[in-house]
Amino acid sequence: MSAPGASAAPGGTCFRADLLAGGVAFVTGGSSGINLAIARRFLELGAKVAIVARDPARLERARADLDALRPGAVLAYSADVRDLAAVQAAADAGAAAFGPYSIVVAGAAGNFLGPAEQLSANAFAAVVDIDLKGTFHAFRACKPHLRRAARLIAISAPQASIPIAMQAHACAAKAGIEQLVRTLAVEWGGPDGCRVNSISPGLVAGTYGAEIFCKVAGAENLVGHQPVPRLLTLSEVADAAAMLAGPLGDYVTGHTFAIDGGLTLPTTGGAAIAAAAAKALAAAPRS
Ligand code: COA
Repeated sequence: MSAPGASAAPGGTCFRADLLAGGVAFVTGGSSGINLAIARRFLELGAKVAIVARDPARLERARADLDALRPGAVLAYSADVRDLAAVQAAADAGAAAFGPYSIVVAGAAGNFLGPAEQLSANAFAAVVDIDLKGTFHAFRACKPHLRRAARLIAISAPQASIPIAMQAHACAAKAGIEQLVRTLAVEWGGPDGCRVNSISPGLVAGTYGAEIFCKVAGAENLVGHQPVPRLLTLSEVADAAAMLAGPLGDYVTGHTFAIDGGLTLPTTGGAAIAAAAAKALAAAPRS
């Protein structure tokens, strides 16, 4: 087994360098983690990118970092995704500067581990409002600025389909995101419509989300029993977004793309048994 954190894939993209040439992307949560990696990948593949995040200092660091990659191809707007008017202002400004969006990534998220019986109403609402309402706000704000066949991509998580203790808020929010995506795929489809999907990444090395889980349970214990027993890389998630944003995504809508190493298969325990059986088989004498 590869050590957790090791990647079978190289850090670079598996796509050709002009995959998204001429595109314009709007990415919430784009100052860190998965969404920053996605914004960077979109730039590498030829799109212009408007990133949105709450913390102005972190946002400016990300903007400068991305601008060094392709000067003039990045805009940054500070907004809290819980505030539709603020997201709308960012979406309007980005479209005025770069033109209509071909890609929207609603990635801003918040999370912490908390027993349900101890979550205050405000604590539960904070995560639901950032994740679920924030996803709706990003899509809603960009809707008037979408090109034909634009790609709307939400960031879901395994919490949408597997219940995880101390994650009642995140499980509810991410499950809501996946049904929101299916609903918008239907409502906003049609000849001039858009494609609406979500990506559900497993534990991604180097992110805050992986850090809080690994701290309590250890990376090896968390991903060691997956069919693909390693952490996911930022580069792999970024390419998953590029896949949905590129030509291959044109016929995909209302879908959740799980890039999770098999984590959400119904029998993660079964995977451990299957792995043990495979080991025994490999060790058995061959005829
Ligand atoms: N455990 C329990 N409750 C928590 C908490 C924690 N670790 N973090 C926040 N809360 C509660 C707060 O106590 C507050 O409830 P209260 O008003 O009843 O006290 C409520 O959640 C809102 O917290 P607050 O910090 O005021 O909200 P915020 O809007 O500024 O930030 C988060 C909310 C989720 C973004 C914040 O917890 C955070 O910064 N998390 C770490 C960063 C992160 O989530 N990154 C993305 C990972 S996917």
